[in-house]
Amino acid sequence: MKLTNYYTSILTLLLMAEMVVGTCESDRKLDCSLLGDLLEMAMKQKSPDKVCQCPRRTKIPAFSAMLTKSQTPQTNNAIKFDKAVTNIGNGYNPTTGIFTAPIGGIYHFTYTVMSKAGKYLVVYLALNNTKQQTTWLKGSSHETATTSIILNLKKGDQVAVKSADGIYSVHSDGNMYCSFSGYLIAQ
Ligand SMILES: *[C@@H]1O[C@H](CO)[C@@H](O)[C@H](O)[C@H]1NC(C)=O
Repeated sequence: MKLTNYYTSILTLLLMAEMVVGTCESDRKLDCSLLGDLLEMAMKQKSPDKVCQCPRRTKIPAFSAMLTKSQTPQTNNAIKFDKAVTNIGNGYNPTTGIFTAPIGGIYHFTYTVMSKAGKYLVVYLALNNTKQQTTWLKGSSHETATTSIILNLKKGDQVAVKSADGIYSVHSDGNMYCSFSGYLIAQ
């Protein structure tokens, strides 16, 4: 009885979906995919052994690293966020500050930096040696800035936050005001 109700609901939904397909020409593609999804759901219900057909997922590379003390990197050198709190896939190297993509795909990166009181700080995010964006800040006291970016990486591509000039210091201490994080969104 319960199962009958289930299939009745599915059929009702299918009929509704078909009606939408019939009435709105511009949304045909979307509605066809809805119809397909519903059919797929109904089929999966019939054969529970086929419920999970996703390919086996590899571990999702993901890292977050903190800066535990102030740093004054050389011009175009990476800020070494020295304390990795998460490093799935070991793509991030806390001694170099460089993330190397363990697998290709679309990644999201974000970083936060803090300036010395009253001082300029200019840093940028680089893919290999190419600048992708720049963060510029200065305040009467310490200032922080946060930036994020989405990059389509190949395996082996390197991403780091670099100082634009050796004159700049990134301020931090045990409270960990600065961080660099990234993770894979999709392959
Ligand atoms: C970045 O550098 C790595 C390592 O040298 C190399 O394999 C890769 O092709 C480079 N990627 C780009 C986009 O230049």
